[in-house]
Amino acid sequence: MPVQRYCSSNYQRNSIPQQVKLMKKLIFVCMTMVLVTPIFTSPTVFAAGNAAAGKAKAGACVGCHGAGGNSVNPAWPKLAGQNPGYIAKQLADFKSGKRKEPMMLGMVMGLSKADMANIGAYYAEQNMTTIGATNKALAEEGEKIYRGGITKTGVGACMGCHGPAGKGIAPNYPAVSGQHATYAEKQLLAFKKGDRANDNNVMQGIAFSMSERQIKAVAAYMQGLK
Ligand code: HEC
Ligand code: HEC
Repeated sequence: MPVQRYCSSNYQRNSIPQQVKLMKKLIFVCMTMVLVTPIFTSPTVFAAGNAAAGKAKAGACVGCHGAGGNSVNPAWPKLAGQNPGYIAKQLADFKSGKRKEPMMLGMVMGLSKADMANIGAYYAEQNMTTIGATNKALAEEGEKIYRGGITKTGVGACMGCHGPAGKGIAPNYPAVSGQHATYAEKQLLAFKKGDRANDNNVMQGIAFSMSERQIKAVAAYMQGLK
Protein backbone atom coordinates (compact mmCIF):
# COMPACT_ATOMS: atom_id res chain seq x y z
CA MET A 1 0.00 0.00 0.00
CA PRO A 2 1.40 3.45 -0.86
CA VAL A 3 2.65 5.33 2.18
CA GLN A 4 0.50 8.34 1.31
CA ARG A 5 -2.69 6.26 1.69
CA TYR A 6 -1.26 4.73 4.85
CA CYS A 7 -0.86 8.15 6.38
CA SER A 8 -4.43 9.25 5.89
CA SER A 9 -6.44 6.07 6.43
CA ASN A 10 -7.32 4.59 9.76
CA TYR A 11 -7.16 0.92 10.35
CA GLN A 12 -10.21 -0.46 11.97
CA ARG A 13 -9.80 -4.10 11.17
CA ASN A 14 -6.96 -4.60 13.68
CA SER A 15 -7.26 -5.13 17.45
CA ILE A 16 -6.58 -2.14 19.75
CA PRO A 17 -2.93 -3.05 20.70
CA GLN A 18 -2.19 -3.83 17.09
CA GLN A 19 -3.71 -0.51 16.09
CA VAL A 20 -1.54 1.35 18.59
CA LYS A 21 1.55 -0.40 17.27
CA LEU A 22 0.54 0.36 13.70
CA MET A 23 -0.19 4.00 14.52
CA LYS A 24 3.26 4.38 16.08
CA LYS A 25 4.81 2.90 12.96
CA LEU A 26 2.72 5.15 10.74
CA ILE A 27 3.55 8.26 12.72
CA PHE A 28 7.21 7.38 12.28
CA VAL A 29 6.81 6.78 8.54
CA CYS A 30 4.79 9.97 8.03
CA MET A 31 7.21 12.08 10.09
CA THR A 32 10.12 10.65 8.11
CA MET A 33 8.35 11.54 4.87
CA VAL A 34 7.73 15.08 6.02
CA LEU A 35 11.35 15.47 7.06
CA VAL A 36 12.93 13.72 4.10
CA THR A 37 10.80 14.96 1.19
CA PRO A 38 12.09 18.56 1.12
CA ILE A 39 15.68 17.32 1.17
CA PHE A 40 15.11 15.18 -1.91
CA THR A 41 13.32 17.88 -3.82
CA SER A 42 15.29 20.93 -2.76
CA PRO A 43 17.41 22.23 -5.65
CA THR A 44 20.73 23.97 -5.47
CA VAL A 45 19.53 27.35 -4.29
CA PHE A 46 20.53 30.43 -6.20
CA ALA A 47 19.46 33.79 -4.86
CA ALA A 48 17.09 35.78 -7.07
CA GLY A 49 19.20 37.79 -9.49
CA ASN A 50 19.20 41.35 -10.71
CA ALA A 51 18.25 41.48 -14.39
CA ALA A 52 19.88 44.87 -15.09
CA ALA A 53 23.21 43.68 -13.70
CA GLY A 54 22.79 40.47 -15.69
CA LYS A 55 22.23 42.37 -18.93
CA ALA A 56 25.58 44.11 -18.51
CA LYS A 57 27.35 40.75 -18.18
CA ALA A 58 25.39 39.19 -21.05
CA GLY A 59 27.03 41.44 -23.64
CA ALA A 60 29.70 38.78 -24.07
CA CYS A 61 27.10 36.15 -24.90
CA VAL A 62 25.33 37.84 -27.83
CA GLY A 63 27.78 36.53 -30.41
CA CYS A 64 26.57 32.97 -29.90
CA HIS A 65 23.27 33.12 -28.01
CA GLY A 66 21.89 36.01 -30.05
CA ALA A 67 20.27 39.30 -29.09
CA GLY A 68 18.10 38.77 -26.00
CA GLY A 69 19.08 35.10 -25.92
CA ASN A 70 17.47 34.14 -29.21
CA SER A 71 20.31 32.33 -30.89
CA VAL A 72 20.00 31.81 -34.62
CA ASN A 73 22.51 28.97 -34.86
CA PRO A 74 20.54 25.73 -34.24
CA ALA A 75 23.49 24.18 -32.39
CA TRP A 76 23.55 26.99 -29.82
CA PRO A 77 20.74 27.05 -27.27
CA LYS A 78 18.20 29.80 -26.92
CA LEU A 79 18.26 31.27 -23.43
CA ALA A 80 15.31 33.69 -23.75
CA GLY A 81 12.52 32.85 -21.31
CA GLN A 82 14.53 30.08 -19.66
CA ASN A 83 14.16 29.43 -15.92
CA PRO A 84 16.61 31.70 -14.11
CA GLY A 85 17.61 28.99 -11.61
CA TYR A 86 18.32 26.53 -14.42
CA ILE A 87 20.55 29.04 -16.23
CA ALA A 88 22.48 29.79 -13.04
CA LYS A 89 22.92 26.06 -12.37
CA GLN A 90 24.25 25.39 -15.87
CA LEU A 91 26.74 28.25 -15.59
CA ALA A 92 27.93 26.87 -12.23
CA ASP A 93 28.16 23.37 -13.74
CA PHE A 94 30.23 24.62 -16.70
CA LYS A 95 32.57 26.35 -14.26
CA SER A 96 32.99 23.32 -11.99
CA GLY A 97 33.36 20.97 -14.95
CA LYS A 98 30.24 18.98 -14.04
CA ARG A 99 28.98 19.88 -17.52
CA LYS A 100 31.75 19.84 -20.05
CA GLU A 101 31.68 22.32 -22.93
CA PRO A 102 34.93 23.94 -24.09
CA MET A 103 33.08 26.85 -25.73
CA MET A 104 31.37 27.75 -22.45
CA LEU A 105 34.24 27.12 -20.07
CA GLY A 106 36.13 30.27 -21.03
CA MET A 107 32.91 32.28 -20.72
CA VAL A 108 32.13 31.30 -17.14
CA MET A 109 35.56 31.29 -15.50
CA GLY A 110 35.25 34.92 -14.44
CA LEU A 111 31.63 34.73 -13.31
CA SER A 112 30.68 34.78 -9.61
CA LYS A 113 27.60 33.05 -8.20
CA ALA A 114 25.88 36.46 -8.08
CA ASP A 115 26.76 37.11 -11.76
CA MET A 116 25.22 33.74 -12.66
CA ALA A 117 21.98 34.54 -10.83
CA ASN A 118 21.87 38.00 -12.45
CA ILE A 119 22.40 36.56 -15.93
CA GLY A 120 19.63 34.02 -15.25
CA ALA A 121 17.27 36.80 -14.18
CA TYR A 122 18.06 38.79 -17.34
CA TYR A 123 17.46 35.95 -19.80
CA ALA A 124 14.32 34.78 -17.98
CA GLU A 125 12.76 38.17 -18.75
CA GLN A 126 13.43 38.01 -22.50
CA ASN A 127 10.79 36.87 -24.95
CA MET A 128 11.64 33.82 -26.98
CA THR A 129 11.14 33.92 -30.71
CA THR A 130 10.66 30.58 -32.40
CA ILE A 131 10.48 29.25 -35.93
CA GLY A 132 8.02 26.48 -35.00
CA ALA A 133 8.24 22.83 -36.02
CA THR A 134 9.99 22.35 -39.35
CA ASN A 135 9.21 18.62 -39.74
CA LYS A 136 5.49 18.17 -39.02
CA ALA A 137 5.36 14.37 -39.44
CA LEU A 138 8.29 13.85 -37.09
CA ALA A 139 6.81 16.35 -34.62
CA GLU A 140 3.55 14.39 -34.51
CA GLU A 141 5.50 11.28 -33.58
CA GLY A 142 7.29 13.27 -30.89
CA GLU A 143 4.08 14.71 -29.49
CA LYS A 144 2.97 11.24 -28.34
CA ILE A 145 6.22 10.78 -26.43
CA TYR A 146 6.18 14.27 -24.94
CA ARG A 147 2.61 13.97 -23.70
CA GLY A 148 2.33 10.24 -23.00
CA GLY A 149 5.84 8.85 -22.54
CA ILE A 150 6.95 5.49 -23.91
CA THR A 151 5.18 2.64 -22.14
CA LYS A 152 7.36 -0.11 -23.59
CA THR A 153 10.61 1.20 -22.13
CA GLY A 154 9.13 2.87 -19.06
CA VAL A 155 9.77 6.48 -20.11
CA GLY A 156 7.48 8.94 -18.31
CA ALA A 157 5.77 11.81 -20.10
CA CYS A 158 8.17 14.69 -20.62
CA MET A 159 5.43 17.17 -19.79
CA GLY A 160 5.37 15.84 -16.22
CA CYS A 161 8.56 17.79 -15.54
CA HIS A 162 8.84 20.20 -18.49
CA GLY A 163 5.19 21.27 -18.37
CA PRO A 164 2.33 20.85 -20.87
CA ALA A 165 3.47 23.94 -22.78
CA GLY A 166 7.18 23.17 -22.34
CA LYS A 167 7.76 26.15 -20.06
CA GLY A 168 9.53 24.01 -17.46
CA ILE A 169 8.99 24.20 -13.74
CA ALA A 170 11.15 26.71 -11.88
CA PRO A 171 13.74 26.46 -10.56
CA ASN A 172 15.25 23.19 -11.78
CA TYR A 173 13.21 21.87 -14.71
CA PRO A 174 14.22 23.76 -17.83
CA ALA A 175 11.90 25.18 -20.44
CA VAL A 176 12.15 23.18 -23.67
CA SER A 177 9.50 24.80 -25.89
CA GLY A 178 10.75 26.63 -28.96
CA GLN A 179 14.28 25.37 -28.38
CA HIS A 180 16.30 24.47 -31.50
CA ALA A 181 15.68 20.79 -32.29
CA THR A 182 19.33 20.36 -33.27
CA TYR A 183 20.46 21.51 -29.82
CA ALA A 184 17.80 19.51 -27.92
CA GLU A 185 18.64 16.36 -29.87
CA LYS A 186 22.34 16.82 -29.12
CA GLN A 187 21.61 17.13 -25.39
CA LEU A 188 19.39 14.04 -25.33
CA LEU A 189 22.07 12.04 -27.14
CA ALA A 190 24.68 13.35 -24.70
CA PHE A 191 22.49 12.27 -21.74
CA LYS A 192 21.98 8.89 -23.43
CA LYS A 193 25.71 8.30 -23.79
CA GLY A 194 26.52 9.79 -20.38
CA ASP A 195 28.55 12.61 -21.97
CA ARG A 196 26.29 15.08 -20.16
CA ALA A 197 25.96 13.95 -16.57
CA ASN A 198 25.06 17.06 -14.56
CA ASP A 199 21.39 16.10 -14.21
CA ASN A 200 21.41 14.14 -10.92
CA ASN A 201 20.65 11.09 -13.05
CA VAL A 202 17.20 12.28 -14.07
CA MET A 203 17.62 12.73 -17.81
CA GLN A 204 20.30 10.09 -18.37
CA GLY A 205 17.96 7.22 -17.48
CA ILE A 206 15.18 8.69 -19.62
CA ALA A 207 17.38 9.24 -22.68
CA PHE A 208 18.99 5.83 -22.25
CA SER A 209 15.55 4.26 -22.68
CA MET A 210 14.89 6.13 -25.93
CA SER A 211 15.95 5.24 -29.46
CA GLU A 212 17.75 7.82 -31.59
CA ARG A 213 14.61 8.06 -33.74
CA GLN A 214 12.43 8.80 -30.69
CA ILE A 215 14.91 11.45 -29.56
CA LYS A 216 14.84 13.12 -32.98
CA ALA A 217 11.03 13.06 -32.97
CA VAL A 218 10.57 14.58 -29.52
CA ALA A 219 13.17 17.28 -30.27
CA ALA A 220 11.25 18.17 -33.46
CA TYR A 221 8.04 18.43 -31.43
CA MET A 222 9.56 20.60 -28.68
CA GLN A 223 10.85 23.12 -31.23
CA GLY A 224 7.27 23.73 -32.32
CA LEU A 225 5.78 23.72 -28.84
CA LYS A 226 4.49 27.05 -27.54
C1 HEC B 1 31.48 30.93 -28.59
C2 HEC B 1 30.06 30.72 -28.45
C3 HEC B 1 29.44 30.94 -27.08
C4 HEC B 1 29.52 32.07 -26.30
C5 HEC B 1 30.26 33.36 -26.57
C6 HEC B 1 28.68 31.80 -25.14
N1 HEC B 1 28.12 30.56 -25.24
FE1 HEC B 1 26.81 29.70 -23.92
N2 HEC B 1 26.80 28.00 -25.03
C7 HEC B 1 27.47 27.81 -26.20
C8 HEC B 1 27.23 26.47 -26.68
C9 HEC B 1 27.78 25.87 -27.95
C10 HEC B 1 26.38 25.85 -25.72
C11 HEC B 1 25.81 24.45 -25.77
C12 HEC B 1 26.79 23.46 -25.32
C13 HEC B 1 26.31 22.05 -25.52
O1 HEC B 1 26.01 21.68 -26.65
O2 HEC B 1 26.21 21.34 -24.53
C14 HEC B 1 26.13 26.86 -24.70
C15 HEC B 1 25.32 26.64 -23.60
C16 HEC B 1 24.98 27.60 -22.68
C17 HEC B 1 24.04 27.43 -21.62
C18 HEC B 1 23.24 26.17 -21.32
C19 HEC B 1 21.87 26.31 -21.94
C20 HEC B 1 20.95 25.17 -21.73
O3 HEC B 1 19.83 25.23 -22.25
O4 HEC B 1 21.31 24.21 -21.04
C21 HEC B 1 23.97 28.60 -20.93
C22 HEC B 1 23.11 28.91 -19.72
C23 HEC B 1 24.87 29.52 -21.59
N3 HEC B 1 25.47 28.89 -22.65
C24 HEC B 1 25.07 30.82 -21.19
C25 HEC B 1 26.02 31.68 -21.75
C26 HEC B 1 26.35 32.96 -21.22
C27 HEC B 1 25.70 33.59 -20.00
C28 HEC B 1 27.32 33.49 -22.02
C29 HEC B 1 28.03 34.82 -21.88
C30 HEC B 1 28.62 35.10 -20.58
C31 HEC B 1 27.60 32.52 -23.06
N4 HEC B 1 26.79 31.44 -22.86
C32 HEC B 1 28.48 32.69 -24.11
C33 HEC B 1 28.24 28.74 -26.87
C34 HEC B 1 28.57 29.99 -26.40
C1 HEC C 1 11.51 13.60 -13.72
C2 HEC C 1 11.58 14.86 -14.40
C3 HEC C 1 11.92 14.88 -15.87
C4 HEC C 1 11.28 14.19 -16.89
C5 HEC C 1 10.15 13.19 -16.79
C6 HEC C 1 11.93 14.64 -18.11
N1 HEC C 1 12.89 15.57 -17.83
FE1 HEC C 1 14.09 16.49 -19.18
N2 HEC C 1 15.13 17.42 -17.68
C7 HEC C 1 14.86 17.28 -16.34
C8 HEC C 1 15.83 18.03 -15.58
C9 HEC C 1 15.90 18.15 -14.06
C10 HEC C 1 16.72 18.62 -16.51
C11 HEC C 1 17.91 19.53 -16.22
C12 HEC C 1 19.14 18.78 -15.81
C13 HEC C 1 20.27 19.71 -15.43
O1 HEC C 1 20.19 20.34 -14.38
O2 HEC C 1 21.21 19.86 -16.21
C14 HEC C 1 16.24 18.21 -17.83
C15 HEC C 1 16.84 18.59 -19.03
C16 HEC C 1 16.34 18.29 -20.27
C17 HEC C 1 16.87 18.77 -21.53
C18 HEC C 1 18.07 19.71 -21.69
C19 HEC C 1 17.58 21.13 -21.77
C20 HEC C 1 18.64 22.11 -22.15
O3 HEC C 1 18.27 23.28 -22.35
O4 HEC C 1 19.81 21.75 -22.25
C21 HEC C 1 16.10 18.26 -22.53
C22 HEC C 1 16.25 18.51 -24.01
C23 HEC C 1 15.09 17.44 -21.91
N3 HEC C 1 15.25 17.47 -20.53
C24 HEC C 1 14.11 16.75 -22.60
C25 HEC C 1 13.22 15.83 -22.01
C26 HEC C 1 12.37 14.94 -22.78
C27 HEC C 1 12.29 14.89 -24.27
C28 HEC C 1 11.69 14.19 -21.86
C29 HEC C 1 10.70 13.06 -22.12
C30 HEC C 1 11.12 11.97 -22.97
C31 HEC C 1 12.09 14.64 -20.54
N4 HEC C 1 13.04 15.63 -20.68
C32 HEC C 1 11.59 14.15 -19.36
C33 HEC C 1 13.79 16.58 -15.79
C34 HEC C 1 12.93 15.73 -16.47
